Amino acid sequence: AGQRVADSLGYSVFIIGGFVRDLLLLNPTQDLDFVVEGNGHAFAQALYQELNRGQLTLHDSFGTARIEFPNGTHLDVASTRWEYYEFPGALPQVEESRLRDDLFRRDFTINAMALAINSDRYGELVDYYGGLRDLKQGEIRFLHHLSFIEDPTRILRAVRFAERYRFRLSKETQEGVATALKAGVLHKLSTERFTQEFLLILREKQYARMGQSLIELGVMEEWFGERLPWNFTRIPENENLTSEEKWLISVSLFNQQQINSALSLKLSREMKREALKFKEIQAALLAESSLNLSIMDQHLSGVSRNIRIALRYDPALEQSMNNYEQAVEQLKLEINGFALRKLGISEGPEIGRILKEIRWAWLEQKIHTPAEEKQLMLQ
Ligand code: CTP
Repeated sequence: AGQRVADSLGYSVFIIGGFVRDLLLLNPTQDLDFVVEGNGHAFAQALYQELNRGQLTLHDSFGTARIEFPNGTHLDVASTRWEYYEFPGALPQVEESRLRDDLFRRDFTINAMALAINSDRYGELVDYYGGLRDLKQGEIRFLHHLSFIEDPTRILRAVRFAERYRFRLSKETQEGVATALKAGVLHKLSTERFTQEFLLILREKQYARMGQSLIELGVMEEWFGERLPWNFTRIPENENLTSEEKWLISVSLFNQQQINSALSLKLSREMKREALKFKEIQAALLAESSLNLSIMDQHLSGVSRNIRIALRYDPALEQSMNNYEQAVEQLKLEINGFALRKLGISEGPEIGRILKEIRWAWLEQKIHTPAEEKQLMLQ
């Protein structure tokens, strides 16, 4: 569809950035970035009509636009011609140099490649800065020395891409990161932007390695102003943990004051609330002199799955948590509030008390069969 629209409008159109990188890594992603040598809004509108689905938003006078699809993916359109927006039909060489400039303004060589989609040059890779070479040799390389100064989020992006693809930073890029950090560029970032980058990292499979790498580079200490006991190493990458679970595990060794420091990030209310609740339950469990199953159940019933999973990664609670989860899974509780009411017990608190007692008896293996359960209930 993009090609038909590009050809019919007479614009040169390229797919650019992350999609091209991931395509070359045989790892296709769904979000598309188009760069149009022409009127970006006109291209986006025509493409939207052609696709006949999603939602189109035209952004500003620079010709950027986005089409969002119901499945959560999107497609962005930018124009190389925004500076000369009023004067369409500039010379082709000028257009070509605009594409080159557009690519030069990007973060890393592997993200600065473009793929032509017009029918006369379909699939042609535009690679001015050695992106393909760096993909092959596994290097993250900035395009110019001011890259991290201009946009400090790129320091976190460098770590994210390096660990995601198991690449390394090129020597100059590494030096660039060190120089930028020394110059204090992180403090130019708003808390929102730092948090946003941190959340992107949380979503990654190799989150733990990225976290370690941020510590080694000094990013975490620089941002939080202190050395915090991040618990990254215990997070396995082959387990399917959610961002929330990874977040709770990583702060699991923090004390109260350190938690407050971590909560200076602009996280969702839910993530903050869960972190506090997690610390509260963790402290309560650790304060118990013995952790038998019914005591654990008193602390853990009604607690979110995220928190329960994260507690399993606290070395001091790992064993007890595993036992507890196993016991809960095997719980054969037959009785319920409805059955109790039928037996003539109608008061809510009384029903709750009896149900809990039976549940704990099962957990403690004081009863083993439905018959024993019934007997206990009748006592
Ligand atoms: N970009 C940049 N500097 C940034 C953010 C983005 O130069 N601070 C450029 C890069 O060329 C990048 C493109 O904008 O490829 C799109 O950015 P984004 O969607 O954030 O990243 P992707 O490369 O698509 O990466 P991901 O796979 O994480 O979505």
